[in-house]
Amino acid sequence: MVLYADGDADLSQLKGKIIGVIGYGNQGSAQAKCLRDSGLNVLVGVREGGASWKRAEEDRLRVAGIAEAARESDVICMLVPDMVQREVYSKYIKKNLGEGKMLCFAHGFNITYGLIKPPKNVDVVMVAPKSTGARLREAFLQDEGVPGLIAVHQDYTGNAKRGALAIAKGLGLTRKGVFECTFDQETFSNLFAEQCVTIGGQLSLMKAGFETMVRNGIPPEIAYFECVGVAKTIMEMVERDGLKKTLYGVSRTATYGALTRGGRIVDEKARKSMQEIFDEVKDGSFAEEWLGEYEAGMKRFEELRRKGSDHPLEHFGAKMRKALGSKE
Ligand SMILES: NC(=O)c1ccc[n+]([C@@H]2O[C@H](COP(=O)([O-])OP(=O)(O)OC[C@H]3O[C@@H](n4cnc5c(N)ncnc54)[C@H](OP(=O)(O)O)[C@@H]3O)[C@@H](O)[C@H]2O)c1
Repeated sequence: MVLYADGDADLSQLKGKIIGVIGYGNQGSAQAKCLRDSGLNVLVGVREGGASWKRAEEDRLRVAGIAEAARESDVICMLVPDMVQREVYSKYIKKNLGEGKMLCFAHGFNITYGLIKPPKNVDVVMVAPKSTGARLREAFLQDEGVPGLIAVHQDYTGNAKRGALAIAKGLGLTRKGVFECTFDQETFSNLFAEQCVTIGGQLSLMKAGFETMVRNGIPPEIAYFECVGVAKTIMEMVERDGLKKTLYGVSRTATYGALTRGGRIVDEKARKSMQEIFDEVKDGSFAEEWLGEYEAGMKRFEELRRKGSDHPLEHFGAKMRKALGSKE
């Protein structure tokens, strides 16, 4: 895969153009500020009277209603939640998507599952930062940037990829590096990883490990150190130094124990479950279930989130952060 860097992207592609950032939440607020600070002409499109309108104005950005922002903009960045994008698109954006405009997503969900079907005479791209909005902004301000993915779904103007790379540069992503993939690859990998590895898998492992230790008489403070603090150190080592250096860098007792026991946790049954979860992502059944939950009012989601956070790990985490002097 080709890794695109700053030198491969040209901000002048967007010169004289208006970049409409639709939504001012996690990604929208970070992206709008980064694009503005990169010298681009940004217009934020949000619901009139909503909390975002006030926040964007306070951040000294030009703000308009969603339809008006879409009408005025040459590039339209869809940064409202994935579950509401179809509705926002059909109500406000579709009729304002004139020939040659660029529709830009930060996640492939709505294109992959056919929820939004843009007309043939526009460019459709994705610029997906591999971080939260807060981290994107923080890294941008530190002159660092976070990595990202770009994809081109439709290239009407012949300039779609250059446009996507320019947005990526405006967000600081090319400082770190940007890979090109397809919408499907980004959607499937992102959903699968957050379910099985980065969030779902990690949190389940931390909670189960913590519970097992405490049940066996280990003080929760010590169990917390092992499951959260040490876990973070090891993840950082793998990212910074690689697998080999990590396995050679921790004690030989740790390496022997990890290599003889780890596979008993992520065993054949766990791998089979991972495959099933990947299949649910790929065949659209997860997307259908999630949209159904959204349409039903998100009661089950709120309950799951409440229960998911109500764990001794959370209670001890708050205590430990306080005791160790972290800022809350
Ligand atoms: N979060 C991440 O870390 C992350 C990372 C990479 C990519 N992405 C992608 O970035 C996109 C945006 O995600 P996000 O997490 O930034 O979303 P978010 O924070 O939940 O978005 C909130 C914004 O959407 C607006 N909004 C919510 N419901 C709306 C509706 N029905 N009609 C109009 N506006 C509505 C809110 O306006 P009001 O204030 O008026 O309610 C607010 O401005 C998604 O495609 C997501 O997959 C997210």
